[in-house]
Amino acid sequence: MVTPLLHRAVTAFDERLRPMIAHHFGWPQIDLPPTTSSGKMVRATLTVLAGECFTDDPETISRVTIAGAAVEMVHNFSLIHDDIMDGDAERRGRPAVWCEYGVPAAILAGDLLLAQAPFMLTGSSSYEPRATRLLADAIVRLAAGQMADLLLEGRAETSLDEALAVAEDKTAALLSCACELGALLAGASWEATQRFNRFGLHLGLAFQIADDVLGIWGDPARTGKPVGSDLRSRKGSFPVTAALASGTPEAAELSRFYADRGPVSEDDARHAADLVTRAGGRARAVREIERFGMLARQELDAVRELPLERVAPLFSFTDYVFSRNH
Ligand code: IPE
Ligand code: IPE
Ligand code: MG
Ligand code: MG
Repeated sequence: MVTPLLHRAVTAFDERLRPMIAHHFGWPQIDLPPTTSSGKMVRATLTVLAGECFTDDPETISRVTIAGAAVEMVHNFSLIHDDIMDGDAERRGRPAVWCEYGVPAAILAGDLLLAQAPFMLTGSSSYEPRATRLLADAIVRLAAGQMADLLLEGRAETSLDEALAVAEDKTAALLSCACELGALLAGASWEATQRFNRFGLHLGLAFQIADDVLGIWGDPARTGKPVGSDLRSRKGSFPVTAALASGTPEAAELSRFYADRGPVSEDDARHAADLVTRAGGRARAVREIERFGMLARQELDAVRELPLERVAPLFSFTDYVFSRNH
């Protein structure tokens, strides 16, 4: 449902910027309709499933779907810029946009997606100003979170609360917005909309911690992203922060590695990953994913106006998000 909307929007972009966006989305020929989606489409799926909890009206669902596409545009802007910031050369199994087209062009490609996203919302026949506001708030938090993420690099004394605050801003805010938008545009009550906001926030925290785990121990053939790059950049990801706070001898060694400014070899990164495991950072991250998963489900359970069968697809999708390996 969402891919054709994204594709249609991109075909109208400036032709000098279009190839970069098409490359990022994995559309080898921009003139042909894409046959597969770009990325997992987690955020758009959340928006649509959230909307479908409250209505079956095709026109309303179509508005909700457009909002899902807007959220995916923001997400994809953030990925294009994030790979520049993180110095990561691969995304979705392809060269990152900056690697293929250079940093200046990749900045512009990201800017274009960011600028177009609100137009998706304002262009629909029944314009809802609160939707644009929600998206803008999420973007502001995402930028703050990305800045905080950069400031944590190379720090050995980060608290778990600080690491969670970064994950909340850089990632959970947009997932939360995706869920709230779906509920809002489908006519949910204020109380239900707030519950969908918190459902997305908890889901988003779990999602980012799972991303951190995959970034250290995932299979790049499945994630399409380089493994070990967070450790090479000495990022303050959740498993590392948990390991550093463990008070174990491995934490002390990891702390020396984080305080060092020298280059990091593949072997160093592998050794650091091993230290994180032995210090209990991986196990703690897995526990935290389960905890936030439970909190997310509790929010959905508490929406009294929704019978269980209406929320079932969203519950199933939540389970999929937690069992992911990519
Ligand atoms: C990756 O997001 C970046 C994070 C916020 C964790 P996704 O894992 O949703 O990326 P795609 O869209 O599926 O590639
Ligand atoms: C996730 O950044 C948040 C945003 C992109 C805004 P990460 O740097 O943790 O995500 P990946 O692992 O590169 O996808
Ligand atoms: Mg990154
Ligand atoms: Mg990053």
